[in-house]
Amino acid sequence: MLILALFPHKACFDTIHLMQSFDTKTDDVPASTRKGQTITVGRAETFAPGQCAAVDLPDGFELAVYNVDGEFYATNNFCPHKGAPLTEGKLCGRTIECGLHGWQFDVRTGECLTVREQIESYRVVVEDGWIRVEI
Ligand code: FES
Repeated sequence: MLILALFPHKACFDTIHLMQSFDTKTDDVPASTRKGQTITVGRAETFAPGQCAAVDLPDGFELAVYNVDGEFYATNNFCPHKGAPLTEGKLCGRTIECGLHGWQFDVRTGECLTVREQIESYRVVVEDGWIRVEI
């Protein structure tokens, strides 16, 4: 089982962030070298709705896995702005807000709702109670 930490549901977006750069040309965001694999990240019953979890892969890549009202989603865990882990932000419904500067992402698609940007999203299936992510 690869789950590093579960982050509990937090109140929705009450933070006001200082001015920030919208430069998305950061070198801080690692990309996965793994393609076409399915990884098992944990048991569904231990992962409550409203929680997100960081999943560390051996190549240094990190996934973020989200439980949105019983539906599971997964994205790259690194914010494309400055590389902050998205799982340290706030999950509100289908939106994760980066804890560093407040960019928001739709966890179903990886679409950034703040600027024109995209993070990778991955197909998640639950088989016999196991959460599996296709990367
Ligand atoms: S690191 Fe700046 S919004 Fe995420």
